[in-house]
Amino acid sequence: MLIRGITKADFDAIVSVMDAWWGGPSALKPEPFLFYELGHHALVAEDDGEMTGFLLGFVTDHDPRCGYVHLVGINPDCRRRGTARALYEEFARRAQQLGATSLKAITTIGNEGSVEFHRALGFAIVQDPNYAGEARARYVFSRAL
Ligand SMILES: CC(C)(COP(=O)(O)OP(=O)(O)OC[C@H]1O[C@@H](n2cnc3c(N)ncnc32)[C@H](O)[C@@H]1OP(=O)(O)O)[C@@H](O)C(=O)NCCC(=O)NCCS
Repeated sequence: MLIRGITKADFDAIVSVMDAWWGGPSALKPEPFLFYELGHHALVAEDDGEMTGFLLGFVTDHDPRCGYVHLVGINPDCRRRGTARALYEEFARRAQQLGATSLKAITTIGNEGSVEFHRALGFAIVQDPNYAGEARARYVFSRAL
């Protein structure tokens, strides 16, 4: 497995597979700014030249700095092989080099696969009932680096 920085061709591929990999239209979208403005922190996993997963994240510029993972997705045919874990480990390494002292991510209520994944990686999990606006709950994951 190779973990590397994202290219525009990767971003285009992510846009095309996103709904299929999420099992239907996702509330989260691979917004262009995530590539054009923040893409230097984004990562792709590939096996034999095929993209098997991606992580769109960035490092906040306020103090203390935080590595924020906005979107992580793995090809359904390639799950439970440690791909997302490897993407997080590389993102954490790069974020730490830039001075980040923590990692953060969120997910919607009901995404138990994401919850169990973050739990397995040692994230603390809090359910915030108004995180995304009144009565718009989210799970909030955080972990020190
Ligand atoms: C959540 C997701 C990113 C996990 O990717 P993955 O590459 O399969 O995860 P890994 O193989 O690195 O898993 C590491 C550990 O996390 C846990 N884990 C991962 N997915 C899990 C699941 N669906 N159920 C229970 N535990 C899970 C396991 O402990 C796993 O270790 P193990 O396989 O040795 O038991 C993937 O299922 C996915 O793309 N889901 C759809 C998109 C999504 O919901 N993204 C997150 C919100 S943006």
